[in-house]
Amino acid sequence: MWNNQSERNIFSTFDQILGRDDKEKLLKQHARVIWISGLSGSGKTTLARGIEIELNRRLFLTQILDGDNVRTGINNNLGFTQDDRLENIRRIAEVSKLFLNCGIICINSFISPTQKIRKIAYEIIGRENIIEVYVNASLAVCESRDSKGLYKKAREGKIKDFTGIDSPFEAPVNPDIEIKSDQLSIEESVRICMDHILPIITYQTPLD
Ligand code: ADX
Repeated sequence: MWNNQSERNIFSTFDQILGRDDKEKLLKQHARVIWISGLSGSGKTTLARGIEIELNRRLFLTQILDGDNVRTGINNNLGFTQDDRLENIRRIAEVSKLFLNCGIICINSFISPTQKIRKIAYEIIGRENIIEVYVNASLAVCESRDSKGLYKKAREGKIKDFTGIDSPFEAPVNPDIEIKSDQLSIEESVRICMDHILPIITYQTPLD
């Protein structure tokens, strides 16, 4: 039987579960979700990796979420219809929220093609927790790069619902950062992002 004291201990253990503030204090960083959207081949993943390297160099703890680790794992049952993209992004937003509440800086690189899809993600995570980055490269540039050969297949009709070809892409309105990846080097792009991100995530000791 529990006596009163041990019951109190159970409750006080509950009280001691660390919240986001405690975890941010532990990690000495303010958590955010850096949400990078843009066409396939626009340079999202390259930018996400560049940002992660620079943040890790400065001892920030980060987690990248992108197609490689999400669409092959937790979302491996989803395709590219509007409903599946919406569910893809909804789950990613829920996972991001877990990282956020753990004090970790989450770097997401997903096409996240429409206002509606991004709105759902931002409502789950909270807009105040998001740094929105739009990697802007024209369809012509992305298609000419065709790093994965997918645009060619989409033009040949071998892939359906391909973003920019037969599935819509709506550019974010007023993103926090816009990177014109066809005009900037990767180093310049990462530096622009770091200049914006660093003041936000640098840990400020609470006044009291
Ligand atoms: S999203 O629209 O749901 O946000 P997500 O970023 O997860 O898309 O996945 C996009 C990646 O999946 C592309 O970079 C590309 O490599 C691959 N892909 C395969 N089929 C498609 C398609 N029909 N449309 C867009 N990307 C596709």
